[in-house]
Amino acid sequence: MPIPTLPWTRTDERNPLEARVESVLGRGPAATSFRLRWQRWSPGLDESLRAVYAERTDDLMDRLLELMLTAARQRPEALRELDEQRLLQPDWLQRPEMVGYVCYTDRFAGTLRGVTEHLDHLDELGVRYLHLMPLLKPRPGENDGGYAVMDYRTVREDLGTMDDLAELTGTLREHQISLVVDLVLNHVAREHEWAERARAGEQRYRDYFMAFDDRTMPDAYEQVLPEVFPDFAPGNFTWDDELQAWVWTTFNSYQWDVNWANPDVFCEFLDVILHLANQGVEVVRLDAIAFIWKQLGTVCQNLPQVHDITEALRAAARIVAPALAFKAEAIVGPDDLIHYLGTGRHSGLVSDMAYHNSLMVQLWSSLASRDTRLMEVALGRFPAKPTSTTWGTYVRCHDDIGWAVTDEDAAAAGLDGFSHRRFLSDFYSGEFMGSFARGLVFQANPATGDRRISGSLASLAGLEHALGEGSRQDVWDAVDRINLLHAVVMGFGGIPLLYMGDEFALLNDHQFAEDPTHAADNRWVHRPRMPWREVAQVLADPQHPGNWVHAALKHLVQVRGATPQLHASVESRVLPSPDPRLLLLVREHPLGTMVQLYNFSSDQVHIPMGTVGEQLGERAVELIGGYEYDLRPPVLAVGRYQAMWFVEPEARGVSRGTPARITAFRASSPLFQRG
Ligand code: GLC
Repeated sequence: MPIPTLPWTRTDERNPLEARVESVLGRGPAATSFRLRWQRWSPGLDESLRAVYAERTDDLMDRLLELMLTAARQRPEALRELDEQRLLQPDWLQRPEMVGYVCYTDRFAGTLRGVTEHLDHLDELGVRYLHLMPLLKPRPGENDGGYAVMDYRTVREDLGTMDDLAELTGTLREHQISLVVDLVLNHVAREHEWAERARAGEQRYRDYFMAFDDRTMPDAYEQVLPEVFPDFAPGNFTWDDELQAWVWTTFNSYQWDVNWANPDVFCEFLDVILHLANQGVEVVRLDAIAFIWKQLGTVCQNLPQVHDITEALRAAARIVAPALAFKAEAIVGPDDLIHYLGTGRHSGLVSDMAYHNSLMVQLWSSLASRDTRLMEVALGRFPAKPTSTTWGTYVRCHDDIGWAVTDEDAAAAGLDGFSHRRFLSDFYSGEFMGSFARGLVFQANPATGDRRISGSLASLAGLEHALGEGSRQDVWDAVDRINLLHAVVMGFGGIPLLYMGDEFALLNDHQFAEDPTHAADNRWVHRPRMPWREVAQVLADPQHPGNWVHAALKHLVQVRGATPQLHASVESRVLPSPDPRLLLLVREHPLGTMVQLYNFSSDQVHIPMGTVGEQLGERAVELIGGYEYDLRPPVLAVGRYQAMWFVEPEARGVSRGTPARITAFRASSPLFQRG
């Protein structure tokens, strides 16, 4: 196989690359795959590295080749097979049967081994993607929910060992579940070996960090830097006595930002990524990726180098472990977000997946205001993403909700941005008169007026209030709101990420403050332990709201998996809604168009039937309820908080969600019995 000579390769009589590959991987299929993949991905790797490290790239490429060859040699046979499988089905993350579940290992199952005891629960829900929240060894004491890692090659002691992790990924694969783990790229714990050695005076390791002798540079940077945790970690720099320096700490003072301008840091993290991939991890969640590049005079987020670095990491991973996908955790505005999935020369070459934070924020905004006009504006101006990528869609996650509503979008919807954000904080903290929500204010920032919100899906959607002081109707409404939000994230396109406990409508856990390491951080109010005994009762009790939510969710997952129009390569487009209480989405799939309607109010809303008919003709099937509709009458009634997924009748042919199953669900579900 001829190998192209790249600018950086050392010249030799024989092709040096071929010789090096052969010396590590021999002459078998592993070597052939490596060479072919190198041919495919190394030009992009080289170009991206050059954009960041300029002339230091030649040396770096040399070191990376060694590192990649070693990882390729260590890659277990079962994972090499997985690589082939994924290469044969590159859209594996985009398929409608992909459904994600996100949980803390200890809070879900105690330990990694314990997870296998609850696989029936995940299988029953149809989960194909399991994100076990930070599980690598964190610093002792406060550790930001595990996002202050002191050793990337060791599993958190109480959860198990790296061998347990590798074993778990094998078991999960048998259940067709891909494991997702967090990779914190922006910072390490102050107790990480690199930080220890920096403090011990080793210059090599001091250069892994952004350390300044005096306040000159920190003050210059601070001019325009925002604060992530203004409440419990103000400022972006922390004085360290041992280091005798101000060290960059975007998040907490014990989370030291690493210096990605140093190529050694790139090598270290690539090595960690490949190590995790070789344990069977299939997706790495690139935590706080937006922050990794710093440049004076900027807010030090979303800088172009972030995307060069991501492309380089991914290209290298594709060579060794093509089964590995990247997910960007970039909680940023739409104009910045799209770059994480790739624009221009990075298109489709950076992260395979990114969180759709705007969708999440808009769901809550519309639910509070019973008005979808702002959502229509915000979603309407989202640029198309590369067709090979996917969104992670979600209603809740382990973090707080920040009201990422821009003044421009608000103005376009006839609102004042500041007042609307204030309204949302008031509404979800329950301060707003008549609000159904019971959330907590997180990180109030007097300088900007921002007040983010913590709280579980069920408590924010009104169930806590309804069960405590509301009527039966309030309980139904709360359940309907939960189901509505779940339906949108199931129907939008992308992997719906179900957050542990939401499938049973778990309420806020007000006991979080009893743990002194959690007391100051009220995000723990929505990070409960899975109460398995209660869960069993909920499942056995058809009158329990948690049971209704679970049943509805399972049903949505089944319908979704049987609906090819939900493949993530197709975008959801917002249609102008004839009524501000409804959100209308259309998905133009080659197998037939799909129209989705979502009613964000507790009113029955009537709209012209033509709204759907113009897209689909005279007849359609509504997949969630399982009815056929005649689209000729002039008016369509959309029930309170109802979600409707319409497709042309013939386009349903491939469906596994048979009408029989849907009818059975309707007969047994209290949701439908209420009428
Ligand atoms: C991510 C995590 C968040 C954490 C932060 C710092 O945003 O989701 O929980 O505080 O990164 O690592």
